[in-house]
Amino acid sequence: MRSPQSLIEPPLNHTQMTRRYLTTPIYYATGDPHLGHAYTTVLTDALARYYRQTGADVRFLTGTDEHGQKMQETAAKRDMTPIQLADQMAASFDAAWRDLNISHDRFIRTTEPEHIGVVTTFLERLWAKGQIYDDMYTGWYCIHEERYWTEKEVGAERLCPDCQRPVEFVKEKNYFFRMSDYQDRLIQHIEANPNWIVPATRRNEILGFLKQPLQDLSISRPKSRLSWGVTLPFDSDHVCYVWVDALINYVTASGLLDIDGGPDQPGFSDPGDSWWPASLHVMGKDIITTHAVYWPTLLMAADLALPEQILAHGWWVMEETKMSKSLGNVVDPLELREDYGTDGVRWYLLRDMPTGSDASYTPERFQARYDEIANVFGNLANRTISMISKYRDGIIPEAADNGLDADIESTMRAVTDHMDALRVHDAMAAAMELARAANGYVDTREPWAQAKDPTRSEYLDETLASLARVLTVLTALFLPATPQKMADLARQLGLEAVPTLEQARSVPLGGLEVQKGPPLFPRPDR
Ligand code: MSP
Repeated sequence: MRSPQSLIEPPLNHTQMTRRYLTTPIYYATGDPHLGHAYTTVLTDALARYYRQTGADVRFLTGTDEHGQKMQETAAKRDMTPIQLADQMAASFDAAWRDLNISHDRFIRTTEPEHIGVVTTFLERLWAKGQIYDDMYTGWYCIHEERYWTEKEVGAERLCPDCQRPVEFVKEKNYFFRMSDYQDRLIQHIEANPNWIVPATRRNEILGFLKQPLQDLSISRPKSRLSWGVTLPFDSDHVCYVWVDALINYVTASGLLDIDGGPDQPGFSDPGDSWWPASLHVMGKDIITTHAVYWPTLLMAADLALPEQILAHGWWVMEETKMSKSLGNVVDPLELREDYGTDGVRWYLLRDMPTGSDASYTPERFQARYDEIANVFGNLANRTISMISKYRDGIIPEAADNGLDADIESTMRAVTDHMDALRVHDAMAAAMELARAANGYVDTREPWAQAKDPTRSEYLDETLASLARVLTVLTALFLPATPQKMADLARQLGLEAVPTLEQARSVPLGGLEVQKGPPLFPRPDR
């Protein structure tokens, strides 16, 4: 028997590593996190864990969006100051992400002095380059969506086209960003980079939107109406529009901007030292326009690189309606966790929603997905470790372990292809097929019959070694979705940690002592 080995090497030399900077949206600090927010964060976490496993140097950012009119009003309704509400909600998101085992490197809050400094510097730069002008704005405003609408858009009913709430008539001085100047450049960028916005449906939606002339973007709100925001560096009677403030968070956390650069020389530090540009912005389809139109044009105007890719996923719906706090139909991921565990919730979210489409939450679908991982994969793990314990005193035999090599090979290729194309649900389905194939292998090899016949002892060794190999590979393949359970299983197999994808195929297993543990995915006791 060998003691738990430590062949899992540290990642490669830092300077040669691929760098990946992944972001979630920063969530409004007006309410508690629900299953929709959890999905975006778990999806980004799965990608971050996958890239780390391929040896990349990963920076994973999430956080809270804490300025704006909605914050000001929600706080007033609760008899709180906006910062008290923001502190409470930032803590609530932070705790939820800890409970869901999110591996972010940075939790940003837009009320942090560093971020306020970066927004100020960014705006100073646009101002110095003549990208901002002031004008009188007359029209309709929706407080809930924090945006202006035209007469035509609000119709005779005077309702917000997005949320159907009554809009307010406003006449006020506004600062505008010359967004319209960048329309052609943006279209060219999208056309030249077919994978810049995924999935293709969202890309087409944005190209469709860009067929109309692009308006300039109002980037300010008068303090007389809204004081809770970042003061404009060139007019202290106005604050920055919350969306502009929020989008800039991605640059703040990258370390690109030096806030001590001063107004005359907006000091952008050496891009080589920062994480910018982002490799991937992940978000729901509700906020694709802000990310694929406002954000890249602001970056163009500031002479900064564009994010490399934008992924817009679908909505979690209840029956036909989007899950949302204001509609009161939200599912609390933390409650589901009590019955199914963190990894049960993560598995459901990643396995059930085709990245890009909508998915409907039902308790039955949740149960069906949980049963799949418990019955197919949990069962494979359980029977393999039981048989090694029973037939070989818990020691993985030193024998050829290539009984399932062809399946392993094709599954690894499929999983990496799907993950690289951001189709996490397909990657998880492909990994599950390997577990199914391995269960089929057990049924054909009949190790219980091999065990009864001493002349077949070598075959039994081979069967058990091949099963240990496939389980090791599966710990690496499922790690992005179910990290805690895969760490438990790796330990049950006598490994110190889940191996990387590359190491999973070659790490020596013969001689390791397995430890039978409790079922990985137990029946929920309800
Ligand atoms: N604060 C802005 C984002 C600024 S990013 C620079 C915001 N916040 S939010 O709290 O409303 O969160 C929006 C994100 O939460 C969506 O884009 C999506 O990622 C996620 N979801 C919220 N409800 C959702 C569903 N019902 N289904 C799936 N995701 C959902 O917008």
